[in-house]
Amino acid sequence: MAKSKFVYTCDQCGYETSKWNGRCPSCGAWNSLVEELAEKPSPGGSRSTYSAPDLSESILELEQIGADTDVRYDTGVGELNRVLGGGLVKGSLVLLGGEPGIGKSTLLLQICQFLGMEHSVLYVSGEESARQIKLRAQRLGVDTENLYILTATDAEAIAETISQSAPDIAIIDSIQTMSISRIASSPGSITQVRECTNLFMHTAKSQEIPMIIVGHVNKDGAIAGPKVMEHIVDAVLHFEGERHQSYRLLRAVKNRFGSTNEIGVFEMLDKGLSEVANPSQMLLSGRPHNVSGTCVACVMEGTRPILAEVQALAAKTSYAAPRRMATGFDFNRLTIIIAVLEKRLGIFLGSLDVYLNIVGGFRLDEPAGDLPVAMALYSAVMDRPISEELIAFGEIGLGGEVRSVSHIAQRIREAERMGFSTCVIPKQCASAVDQKDYSIEIVPVSSLKQAFTKIK
Ligand code: TYD
Ligand code: MG
Repeated sequence: MAKSKFVYTCDQCGYETSKWNGRCPSCGAWNSLVEELAEKPSPGGSRSTYSAPDLSESILELEQIGADTDVRYDTGVGELNRVLGGGLVKGSLVLLGGEPGIGKSTLLLQICQFLGMEHSVLYVSGEESARQIKLRAQRLGVDTENLYILTATDAEAIAETISQSAPDIAIIDSIQTMSISRIASSPGSITQVRECTNLFMHTAKSQEIPMIIVGHVNKDGAIAGPKVMEHIVDAVLHFEGERHQSYRLLRAVKNRFGSTNEIGVFEMLDKGLSEVANPSQMLLSGRPHNVSGTCVACVMEGTRPILAEVQALAAKTSYAAPRRMATGFDFNRLTIIIAVLEKRLGIFLGSLDVYLNIVGGFRLDEPAGDLPVAMALYSAVMDRPISEELIAFGEIGLGGEVRSVSHIAQRIREAERMGFSTCVIPKQCASAVDQKDYSIEIVPVSSLKQAFTKIK
């Protein structure tokens, strides 16, 4: 039987089937299957008549390959350079994802100013008119002569224009507005997003033009047209933050040219985004005085220690099952810590609602955050404030023990720099540091019980 010429692809989840359905069997979306041409047969027809070309000539010795291929453009924004692993790599395709309104277009327009000093930049917008971009550029103080604006949505025409005009850097804002006319589905659908990304990747690689593509994320935090894009591009950056708070975190989720642990911190001001060189100070500003249930934690974000405040509140519950809520901290981890407090230390929270918050919209997802969380909880339940000059970090085991964490010296240095006087650390790590080198008092503890004695 001849194979069908068409496949039907769900534009929500990417599911493919040979028969049309009213409802996608995979994700359950209605009327989402769109007809597409099935893949072209391989050149030369069936396997028996096709002779594969010999590629042995193309094999290269690793040593022969020039290392100068890794040319990086400085974006002029240190925080962005750091997340990119040292700048924008020539010929790379970077996806900048984030919720609408978080500041993606603002950031990209701002970097144009610096990039424009030495390079030509083509900014393709499918969202805003040229006039709107001009107004925004004026507001941000972007006035470089090397910035070219193109408002278009036809991806094939854009790719062709980029190849022809050969700018040093191209920016596509956003992938959800781009479409290829021969594909029937609407812009922003899975098929369109995937094909447009493939098209731009081809341009980026063949012309060695680095491209930054903006992608809006949907409610679940996935980049719309989700995984299909992430594996095509070289780097995926997520721009996050609470809309009502002014700071924003830029995080690398994937990076073929650098580490994915690094974060960049920005603040949204009336003149655009500004870099926050000292995030610890920002996250610790406005701490309450003499209040129970707060403790300062130190997390490593890549190579960088950041201090953040953990706040806990325990209030008498009015429900049969008490509530537990965590923002910026893993919920399951919180329940484990509560269980450890109950079982190992006999502190009962069964009749208390527990709320945990990491101040500043920051996420504490390192094991080193366990100890400050436990201390903040203990302080909240006992209503005994922790000294404002105390900082703690360490992982908590199910036996109530405090376990070692990495990067001890950097964390202590940061605490010292921020003016703390006491640092509670896991006992196992104590041998790695020498009290004589620090002006801050180092308190090694081996168990939660011991750590709690530091709470007056
Ligand atoms: P924008 O870059 O348009 O978001 P995205 O491209 O991610 O959708 O950011 C828009 C938000 O930023 C908007 O809510 C207003 C705010 N903003 C400022 O606070 N200051 C500024 O100077 C600019 C340009 C925007
Ligand atoms: Mg935008």
